Amino acid sequence: MILLKTKEEVELIRASAQLVGKALAEVGKHVCPGVTTAFLDKIGEQFIRDNGGIPLCKGYEGFPSAFCISVNDVVVHGIPSEKVFLNEGDNVSVDCVIELNGYVGDSAYTFTVGEVSAEMQRLLKVTKESLYLGLDRCKEGNRVGDIGNAVQQHCEKNGYSVVRELCGHGVGFKMHESPNVPNYGVPGTGALLKEGMVIAVEPMICMGSKNVKFSQEDGWTCRTKDGKPAAHFEHTVAITKNGPDILSTFEFIENKQ
Ligand code: MF3
Ligand code: CO
Repeated sequence: MILLKTKEEVELIRASAQLVGKALAEVGKHVCPGVTTAFLDKIGEQFIRDNGGIPLCKGYEGFPSAFCISVNDVVVHGIPSEKVFLNEGDNVSVDCVIELNGYVGDSAYTFTVGEVSAEMQRLLKVTKESLYLGLDRCKEGNRVGDIGNAVQQHCEKNGYSVVRELCGHGVGFKMHESPNVPNYGVPGTGALLKEGMVIAVEPMICMGSKNVKFSQEDGWTCRTKDGKPAAHFEHTVAITKNGPDILSTFEFIENKQ
């Protein structure tokens, strides 16, 4: 069942999603060659708790950390580790879900580590563009397939592929609500978007082929099968009659406020 949110509830989700944006920026400040993903997680978790938030990934179906931190060929759900050091030229996706005052926001950003190749930069640029093209479709009367189609068209046109195993989702009262929001699809199909719906749109895009595998050891880490890099950007958005109301933000990362 798709749970609709009142205007007041949307504002509470916005507050949580804004804190996610600040937490991602705080982690981003520490992204540089030589740091471990465990260090980034520790910094970020402290920031969330200092601001009255609860990091919801920690303990979610046994996930051990506050953030999913995914380097290069790790698409999503990377477990922060003392053994994973960032290197110049890497990309690192940082994904964070916070509960604040009982409401949940979810957002992710892929950072670059030092100087990265032009092709890595293009992957990140196209993936982020596809997120905003998907968000543009988040309008009452459209359907979930319109969002996925916009993401898919843009990424495939640019020679990239869309992960099929994982999707965006409803969010706000809990981390994962209905509907599923795939990053591929056919326009005019799927769940109807209505004012009051809040969803997380999160393209997971591969430089090479779309096939992924999940780690046998930890059950979480999702990697590209071909070992090529992937990127991931995510926003929490409220559907309105006039279009998307993007509740999370990258402004703290990109404007360094
Ligand atoms: N932000 C992720 C999502 O969009 C996090 C879920 S994985 C978790 O669904 F288990 F770590 F929480
Ligand atoms: Co999500």
